[in-house]
Amino acid sequence: MYEICPETPADTAEVETLYDLCFAPGRTALSSYRLRDGVPRVGELCLVLRSEGVVTAAIRFWPVRVAGQPVLLLGPIAVHPTAQGEGLGGLLMRDSLTRATRLGFDRVLLVGDAPYYSRFGFQRLEGVIMPPPTNPDRVLGLELRPDAWVDITGEVEREPSAPATTPVYDRDDCVVVEPPKEAGYDIANPSGSSSDL
Ligand SMILES: CC(C)(COP(=O)(O)OP(=O)(O)OC[C@H]1O[C@@H](n2cnc3c(N)ncnc32)[C@H](O)[C@@H]1OP(=O)(O)O)[C@@H](O)C(=O)NCCC(=O)NCCS
Repeated sequence: MYEICPETPADTAEVETLYDLCFAPGRTALSSYRLRDGVPRVGELCLVLRSEGVVTAAIRFWPVRVAGQPVLLLGPIAVHPTAQGEGLGGLLMRDSLTRATRLGFDRVLLVGDAPYYSRFGFQRLEGVIMPPPTNPDRVLGLELRPDAWVDITGEVEREPSAPATTPVYDRDDCVVVEPPKEAGYDIANPSGSSSDL
């Protein structure tokens, strides 16, 4: 049994340790981090997945802008090496994107491997430019509303306005989920409810 919870300040050290384990050294030197520096995360969408109390996977989102329009920047997402390939990455992707849709976000951007992210509907974004050096083939987008990426092109920019308050979470905000692959879990519909994703 797993538990998905919004990330709290108490989780930060564990999440950073997981990212350090899963990514090459110097990950925060990547150009995409310049869009994140000093900008509060989208707290409602930053999730940790715990297995027996231990953070096993995590996903974060930041607000950015393209052509002045709000965009969600997805990432990093990581699953502990001992649990990769069990569907946990897909579980966090689906769960967070479902939450983003319900919260009214329109479009998502990430820099990553199209062969993995295409299964969630991500496609290469033409004309959306991440800070260099970023391979344009790895700049991918997802529409949470029809045509949300139509005519949205240009450089990806830092979110200029910070939210007035940071949400505070506790254990009541956690949901318990079945192991995705072992239990025949419906990875396309983690909450069991309908979704337009
Ligand atoms: C990428 C990652 C988040 C995927 O999570 P996961 O729980 O291992 O993935 P899932 O179990 O949901 O999906 C497994 C499937 O994805 C595929 N896959 C995983 N990473 C992939 C990649 N980079 N490119 C293409 N396919 C990939 C696997 O081959 C497997 O395919 P299958 O379903 O056909 O067997 C995880 O492997 C990870 O943390 N990797 C290291 C950090 C990283 O690269 N993060 C992403 C960049 S932000």
